[in-house]
Amino acid sequence: MIAQLIEQAFGQRDEALLVEQLRRDGDATVSLVGLIEGVIAGHVMLSPMSAPFPALGLAPLAVLPAFQRQGIGAALIRAAVETAREEGWKAIFVLGDQVYYNRFGFRADLAAGFSSPYAGPHLMVLPLEAELPSTLGNVDYAPAFGSLS
Ligand SMILES: CC(C)(COP(=O)(O)OP(=O)(O)OC[C@H]1O[C@@H](n2cnc3c(N)ncnc32)[C@H](O)[C@@H]1OP(=O)(O)O)[C@@H](O)C(=O)NCCC(=O)NCCS
Repeated sequence: MIAQLIEQAFGQRDEALLVEQLRRDGDATVSLVGLIEGVIAGHVMLSPMSAPFPALGLAPLAVLPAFQRQGIGAALIRAAVETAREEGWKAIFVLGDQVYYNRFGFRADLAAGFSSPYAGPHLMVLPLEAELPSTLGNVDYAPAFGSLS
């Protein structure tokens, strides 16, 4: 059911397969759904990054086309951030659109010092405490992301 939702949101199967692989690998650290009148309308996953401090990567985020632009994506991000903070993680990385993610506190400037296969203007980080433990080092997503073309 979640796989179908993700496939419909992205218009392709890659991200649904990614979520299945993350689960098989034991890397589905946080997986949340958004319900609208009993219908699963959205889903977000957080998986552990390889990083100099305990950090999660937010991906994928998917909302069914019929339910987009109603705040479900934002609610899922905020709930995922809260869960990660409660669990003691130090940061969340995301690869995405700055205009969308800046509103939640994700910052490309704070991520700019890290070396990563994903380095660039789309890599952002949200500190879950006052400051990041470090702004240098290598960061990479969980192994399942390596098979995503
Ligand atoms: C991106 C996505 C998760 C947003 O979910 P949503 O529930 O529609 O988002 P919200 O209602 O919380 O927020 C809507 C805002 O996001 C913006 N937005 C939506 N998709 C966007 C995108 N791909 N890039 C930039 N901004 C986007 C809208 O412009 C809107 O902004 P506004 O309110 O200022 O007009 C959803 O559109 C989706 O599933 N898209 C397909 C999959 C995808 O691209 N996922 C993200 C990459 S992992």
